[in-house]
Amino acid sequence: MELTPSQIDEAAAALRAGGLVILPTETVYGLAADAANARAVAAVYGAKGRPSFNPLIAHVAEVAAARRIARFDDRAERLAARFWPGPLTLVLPVLDTAAVCDLARAGLDTVAVRSPAHPLARALLRAFGGPVVAPSANRSGRPSPTTFADALGETGAAAAAGLDGGPCDIGLESTVVALLDVPRLLRPGAVTRAALEAEIGPLAEAEADARRSPGRLARHYAPELPLRLNATEPREGEVWLGFGPGFPEPLNLSPTGDPAEAAANLFSYLRAADRSGARAIAVAPIPEEGLGEAINDRLRRAAGFVG
Ligand code: TXA
Ligand code: MG
Repeated sequence: MELTPSQIDEAAAALRAGGLVILPTETVYGLAADAANARAVAAVYGAKGRPSFNPLIAHVAEVAAARRIARFDDRAERLAARFWPGPLTLVLPVLDTAAVCDLARAGLDTVAVRSPAHPLARALLRAFGGPVVAPSANRSGRPSPTTFADALGETGAAAAAGLDGGPCDIGLESTVVALLDVPRLLRPGAVTRAALEAEIGPLAEAEADARRSPGRLARHYAPELPLRLNATEPREGEVWLGFGPGFPEPLNLSPTGDPAEAAANLFSYLRAADRSGARAIAVAPIPEEGLGEAINDRLRRAAGFVG
């Protein structure tokens, strides 16, 4: 039976009962569960087909709740004050290993925390009252869903409830910063490198050590069709994802060359390209500045280029 959109109180009750909930956020749709309930968390990994060594983000409504879960230092306080609620995830030493269970953290002594800005996400977090894990609602390795319908198509069958928050404003997953030793950018996103560095100084790259950056697997966010990047002209049988003036509609990521618009369209256009009947996808060059770093990161992973 197809899931119909729930009310906040029904979704909170589903979480309390150990069920999974399709959760809209300003970045992408998540598949939410009670972070303290290991059986519910196991069901999230199962529904996504996600390896259980790749930990989940704990979502909270308020900074005060995050401080109970994770040890905040000055840098974490600054970033939370400036960017929360919003598309930034902080990886910090864990304090409460029951509130975010071992399985949710993949057994690490660190925890990823984020306070999302979407009003429905905030309403659900308040109604539920505890931390909620929510990986992107796609099956592992696929593009993150940016609409309720796309989320249902990916993992809706495993959900007991779902909130329809409309299309996601940002369309790319949150920026992930680890504050364990020197600050490290684990995943670029809408809170840009420049914006972060303005608050806390230079960011190091993610470590090659996969145990510290378990999400940095090679092929990720991938459509079904092969993907060719920085394509300045189309080839036979390819569908175009353009960027800027002069590229054909309807799959121009942003006819005006606006990176925020391109980010918001990226994953739904990859899905549309998959359905187009073409044999491959060609994507126009996108400048690397600002949000372009996050867009190109997702594109390189979708094409299988990043280790
Ligand atoms: O925008 C988002 O962050 C969305 C929405 C639903 O909030 N969620 C999301 O979750 O993208 P997920 O699970 O798809 O990505 C979480 C990323 C993964 O790359 C994971 O490896 C990393 O965060 N992560 C989580 N906990 C970590 C930890 N303790 N240390 C290092 N990386 C961690
Ligand atoms: Mg994901």
